Amino acid sequence: MNDMKTKYFLLSTFLLLMVRWSCVYGEDGSRLWLRLETANTATNITGVKGMAMSELETYWLGGPVVLKRQKNLPKDGYTIKSQGAKIVITASSDAGMLYGVFHLLRLQQTGQSCDQLDICEKPFYDLRILDHWDNPDGTCERGFAGKSIFLNADSERMKMYARANASVGINGTVLNNVNAKPEALSTASLGKTKAIADQLRPYGIRVYLSINFASPIKVGGLTTADPLDAKVIDWWKEKVNEIYRLIPDFGGFLVKANSEGEPGPQDFGRTHADGANMLAGVLKPHKGIVMWRAFVYAPQSPDRANQAYLEFMPFDGQFADNVIIQIKNGPVDFQPREPYSPLFTAMQKTQMMVEFQLTQEYLGAANHLVYLAPMWQEFFSFVKPSSLKAMAGVANIGDDINWCGHHFAQANWYAFGRAAWNPALTPAQIADEWLTQTFGEQGNLSPLLKLMLESREACVNYMMPLGIHHIFAGTHHYGPEPWYAPRGLRADWTPPYYHRADSIGMGFDRTTTGSANVRQYPEALCRLYNDINTCPETLLTWFHHVPWDHKMKSGRTFWDELCHKYDEGVREARHFLAVWDAMQPYVDAQRFSEVQRKLRIQARDSEWWRDACLLYFQTFSHRPIPQDVEHPVHNLDEMMKFRIPISMYENPENGYNK
Ligand code: GCU
Repeated sequence: MNDMKTKYFLLSTFLLLMVRWSCVYGEDGSRLWLRLETANTATNITGVKGMAMSELETYWLGGPVVLKRQKNLPKDGYTIKSQGAKIVITASSDAGMLYGVFHLLRLQQTGQSCDQLDICEKPFYDLRILDHWDNPDGTCERGFAGKSIFLNADSERMKMYARANASVGINGTVLNNVNAKPEALSTASLGKTKAIADQLRPYGIRVYLSINFASPIKVGGLTTADPLDAKVIDWWKEKVNEIYRLIPDFGGFLVKANSEGEPGPQDFGRTHADGANMLAGVLKPHKGIVMWRAFVYAPQSPDRANQAYLEFMPFDGQFADNVIIQIKNGPVDFQPREPYSPLFTAMQKTQMMVEFQLTQEYLGAANHLVYLAPMWQEFFSFVKPSSLKAMAGVANIGDDINWCGHHFAQANWYAFGRAAWNPALTPAQIADEWLTQTFGEQGNLSPLLKLMLESREACVNYMMPLGIHHIFAGTHHYGPEPWYAPRGLRADWTPPYYHRADSIGMGFDRTTTGSANVRQYPEALCRLYNDINTCPETLLTWFHHVPWDHKMKSGRTFWDELCHKYDEGVREARHFLAVWDAMQPYVDAQRFSEVQRKLRIQARDSEWWRDACLLYFQTFSHRPIPQDVEHPVHNLDEMMKFRIPISMYENPENGYNK
């Protein structure tokens, strides 16, 4: 078959199968992007037996494929080559073979030509890890898509989870919350971990656990968890031996220590390096690793954004070689926009990994359509991918039928895996792949691609433009409460700490004459950020206390620009709804109406954000809202009284519904 014919044949077969599937099963999103129906035609697959072969036998619609083992290929890498009528996939490991097969199936599913293939791939990062923040009771911290998928670890669901991860190259999963319950290391709980590890192993996925640093006391009954105490070290050794007896390929530990009330080495007069290196020492003989988080901040500090740097820089170069410091992309906490965390460019002698958050704790939970790959691309424009050892993503997965609570949130799971495999892939390439696989080429999907690419900036605009950050409600991080400041609460848990609005202006002065946070960045960036006239406007109030009358590049005053940005965000959110509405002929009824419902919530929420923020900040600016923007439709009192009765584990069903 020539190129065009193959493409036509594969695509039409795929579409036919998709139509059949949707008639029979309905479109509930449960198949994620893996929407190939059983082919049952592939009898001509030969070579290495295993999971890769079984995927091909089930889903491949093309000609003969040979699976070959070849020793000298990089770990997890593969080649796919056409040899006459055959396609030969080579890899040095089972995982590599599986990745190669998923690549071929992706070509099939996206209607690419499978003639004259000459593909050679290897992952950029060895470790591509999802962090689940799942609790033993089945809740997921900041999880908005139902309960933990690991609670009952239903085998069909586990299989689909494993296939989905393998299809995008994810090869590790931390099963439990970083706020780890000590019981994660109890013998009963380890038995469950083993069962999950056994289910995931065939798909090349290793399991890891978050640990509670005080486990020697709480599980082991010791009187201390001092990392330099011989009994404590012995306890960890035995525990780690027990784990490896059950799970020989166990990956290692993720540790949140001395952060937000979690125990850590500082409780015993020791340092992060002491704690991390002790655990690294006991894991080392088993080839396990420690991912030690740098998410630390103390209430007394004058600037939360300074703290990780201050606490970790003194130990640069002192961590063992199986320790990786896991750092959130920004210095505060997964905000819609932050500058990158300055630790990434400051630490020179320490292995680092980035932690992105796929679950949209601060970006509209499972109600708002926000495609995150552009945010990660922005991060990588400052932090060289090669300066990192690995990539972690806080999972947005739960037991909801569509896995992520929003059909489009699946794209963030997909994009995370693809970006960890190859950070040079553009957000557009990844979104295009995902859209074609998830919605098929039933019509022209380019308006959706555009929408996805614009969605993160739109969210920034209607929530926190011009560098504003952390002005969320006190009891959840879904909606706005820039006024939230109960008496006695630590200041850095209240929005006024971050926005600092007063009669002069708003924003956090992090310049050399303020908190001096700019000094943590390389010289050139420090200079750029330090000057209000050169600081990128997208980060203006992050670094400066900006006078209301400050002249912006547009010629407007800062206040007027702020009003325009919120207005722009609302318009964009409404536009997304209109774009989606026009897709109705091309999208199955169920997913169409489910996404439409969410986009309506998003548009309504964007007005909530605009009105709450502008009306509140106006009480400081005392300036009118410009004539050429839409004026608030709510009043401030009404917004200040509005409460969404949700815990931090829930997605608010209807968003702002006053
Ligand atoms: C945020 C989040 C917490 C989480 C913490 C962390 O503060 O709100 O729920 O535990 O980050 O990353 O450790």
